[in-house]
Amino acid sequence: MAVQWSGLAPEGLITLDRGRGVPLRAQLEDQFRQAIRSGRLAAGDRVPSSRALASALGLSRGLVQECYAQLLAEGYLVSRGGSATRVATAASRAGPARQAPPPAPARLAADFASGVPDLASAPRQDWAWAVREACRTAPNTDLGYGDPAGNLRLREILAGYLRRVRAADTTAGQVIICSGMAQALGLVLRALAGQGLARVGFEDPGAPASMTATAAWAGVEAVPVPVDDRGVDVAALEATSAGAVVLTPAHQWPTGVVLAAERRLALLDWATRRKAVIIEDDYDAEFRYDRDPVGALQGLAPDLVVTLGTVSKSLAPVLRLGWIASPPRLAGTLARAKQVTDRGSPGLDQLALALLIETGRYDRHLRRMRAEYAARRDVLVQALAEHAPGVPLTGLAAGFHAVAHLPPGTTEQEVIRAARSRSVGLYGMSTCRADQAPSPPQLVLGFGNTRHQAIQTGIAVLGDILGLALPPRSEALLAVQAPRHPGPAGRGRNAWPRRSRKRQRTSVTPVMAGSGRRAPVRIHTVTATFPAA
Ligand SMILES: Cc1ncc(COP(=O)(O)O)c(C=O)c1O
Repeated sequence: MAVQWSGLAPEGLITLDRGRGVPLRAQLEDQFRQAIRSGRLAAGDRVPSSRALASALGLSRGLVQECYAQLLAEGYLVSRGGSATRVATAASRAGPARQAPPPAPARLAADFASGVPDLASAPRQDWAWAVREACRTAPNTDLGYGDPAGNLRLREILAGYLRRVRAADTTAGQVIICSGMAQALGLVLRALAGQGLARVGFEDPGAPASMTATAAWAGVEAVPVPVDDRGVDVAALEATSAGAVVLTPAHQWPTGVVLAAERRLALLDWATRRKAVIIEDDYDAEFRYDRDPVGALQGLAPDLVVTLGTVSKSLAPVLRLGWIASPPRLAGTLARAKQVTDRGSPGLDQLALALLIETGRYDRHLRRMRAEYAARRDVLVQALAEHAPGVPLTGLAAGFHAVAHLPPGTTEQEVIRAARSRSVGLYGMSTCRADQAPSPPQLVLGFGNTRHQAIQTGIAVLGDILGLALPPRSEALLAVQAPRHPGPAGRGRNAWPRRSRKRQRTSVTPVMAGSGRRAPVRIHTVTATFPAA
């Protein structure tokens, strides 16, 4: 966007040397030409009014007007119909900071990107009310730097909220407000690195790319620890000699499993013996459908566990608000780290969040969204049953993503590519694995920001693609009668989930890739039932 100067030229744009012996008008013209040629002044930028510039530079207005007239004549500036004088398009060269923005990504008919809540339902009005109210009522002292750990009122309210809703054992003194979970994790790892931490474990599958990058930034090595259908493998963690581990116990990202009770105890035992730290990422625990919410691990061992929370799933990622509920012994170190990093998170936003929670608007929004995500989840389940009945879903009990287990022999990337060519965004489990292994082929289906109709459309396309991918009838029959897929139920990451097999004859009409032709084919599918995660 072109810059709209209302008065003075930016400092340093024009500097006149009165002792140089070069006429001031010539200097002024020359500096404008250079600024326009170099791109410091871009096409469409409005130059200051002659009165303002003359006053800022201590020149006569007539001299500035003469300069502008000369630059207009030379084609550097344009002035149409009495409107402000601007830099001419032809004269300006885009500087490095003015490059065209990258093209917007293609709009998809259905996008199953995960980790994004329903952005259309973000509580804009509540937030606007809360920010206005915070602005109106905050005492002047709240407009200063404040405590780097965060506004005390928000920390008190959050500590109460975490005790009530997440069964956490924390106080305001242990809460540090951060710019989302991303900053919280970086600060915790850095603080621990400062105390000698060399290696941190992270869940596999999980978020290997961001974990590795954050750990490297903090100066520690990140090592993957396998997750199975009971959560993180504590024996494997023990073998890594890590001094800390980052976990998602209430709803494992991305498999959706809950950390089993005996694993929780084993983990606490490991942390006690090793004097290790458990970093709990409690990212979407508010959205649990089939059972009561699983309490935060922190409540069991407040001295061993650092809990990280965020409003990125509950409200919107754009707010960049999160928190650390720290063991008392780390709270001071973390507050100092926050102070050095950015002197504290934006204060009015903190007050606004406090108001949302205090007035019940936050809970009301969560209730509304819980019902909406549960409805989307049902649409997803039904769409899969209709269009791809051989594709089981797991991890459905909470959050707004699930894992679709593609038939053995399917190539994850091919399905993703074929879907993209039909304007459907699918995402594979392989990117969540530390070794990027493409098998077993699975999709992580986010449905938080995917409308009901889009879910149906996208899953119909997936069903179509899988129909094409499956072998023709005779081979399919053989496949069904052949020995079971080698991945045994309930053993490790590669396990093919337990299933009750039932042969089913289904007619699908896949679209032949590229040709637009529709070819009816008969396939045999295997239906499967899974225990809810
Ligand atoms: C596992 C997990 N935890 C937490 C978050 C939230 O991070 P932030 O609070 O920085 O937005 C994400 C974001 O996608 C995530 O995938």
